[in-house]
Amino acid sequence: MATYLVTGGAGFIGSHLCRSLAERGERVRALDDLSSGRLGNLEGVLDRVEFIRGDVRDGEVLKGAMQGVDFVLHEAAVASVARSLEEPLEVDRINVEGTLQVLCAARDTGVRRVVFAGSAAAYGDDPTLPKREDMPPKPLSPYAASKLAGEHYCRAFWEVYGLETVVLRYFNVFGPGQDLGSPYSGVISIFLGRLFKGEELVVFGDGEQMRDFVFIEDVVRATLSACEAPGVAGEVFNVGRGEGVTINKLAEVVIEVTGLEGKVRHSPPRPGDVRASVADITRAREQLGYRPEVSLREGLIRTARWFRGGIWRRGLGYSWTGTAL
Ligand code: NAD
Ligand code: UD1
Repeated sequence: MATYLVTGGAGFIGSHLCRSLAERGERVRALDDLSSGRLGNLEGVLDRVEFIRGDVRDGEVLKGAMQGVDFVLHEAAVASVARSLEEPLEVDRINVEGTLQVLCAARDTGVRRVVFAGSAAAYGDDPTLPKREDMPPKPLSPYAASKLAGEHYCRAFWEVYGLETVVLRYFNVFGPGQDLGSPYSGVISIFLGRLFKGEELVVFGDGEQMRDFVFIEDVVRATLSACEAPGVAGEVFNVGRGEGVTINKLAEVVIEVTGLEGKVRHSPPRPGDVRASVADITRAREQLGYRPEVSLREGLIRTARWFRGGIWRRGLGYSWTGTAL
């Protein structure tokens, strides 16, 4: 049995990691300041997850939380490109300084490995598809720049201190538990939230921008493999499905799988928006044994079912009039 610390453990991805680890019988701590995460995301496993409310910029809190820890899964961050345009300094403090603090504390407490939630946003607007890890990064937004800075620190800590670090460049992660009420959430959750409220879907720009959506369970599998895989310290891995879909097509499929009445409206493009993002997952396949198992359609059905199941319980003013699912 190993001990894990999940920063951002009350967030979307972090809470799934905690749940999966707890269900495997591992010892799990979650550290989160609850700025965008919720304790409700850990419902049902809070008796098996030690929760620490704290900020990743606080080195002392981190050192305390890392006592006896084997693996740190560093997920805490501001995850929104849009928010990084509004508050670049604050996003830098959380995403860059927070990561540096996590790495310093991990070095000082003898952690075996840190797995960092990097981002496909690091590739920016290079038109070459699919994205391979050896392509030069070209961050377009302050968010992308902050995640890339985190990657560089991970690499540097491996080089100079011998702290094992692994960077996972997650593509667009979706699934149950992603925030449905926030304008800073992922597009799939925003689309589902709007559909269930009877509102039109807003597509930014011409909608022909492309993303590689990967279901949360596949991301959890990749992240947990990255803890124990041999010989991968200092490396960067793409974690996507390896298939792209345009936002126009996504809107169509979301409407279809829910069976809800949906209208689409276009609004001006979002600054800092990458045009096309699709992963080459060969490296993760070969070195982490990563195999995405859940298709976009299957993942959407499961996410929509989860959402429908929570409508009444959460009393968010959504309604269900769809015929599908
Ligand atoms: P999320 O917002 O649901 O989770 C982030 C968590 O970090 C939240 O629980 C939040 O409360 C916490 N947090 C924020 N600032 C903190 C601070 N200063 N101290 C402690 N906790 C803090 O986002 P997510 O989608 O789960 O993203 C998790 C990670 O994965 C982030 O690092 C994000 O950049 C990265 N990522 C996400 C995606 C995606 O599609 N969701 C894709 C690529 C990378
Ligand atoms: C997402 C993640 C980011 C991650 C990156 C990796 C979130 C909030 N962001 O960023 O953490 O690092 O993937 O690839 O999870 N769109 C609309 N209408 C909407 C909302 C979005 O058309 O109402 C469009 C956007 O313009 C964009 C696409 O949908 O082209 C995806 O947007 P979004 O879900 O915000 O994700 P990314 O910016 O790709």
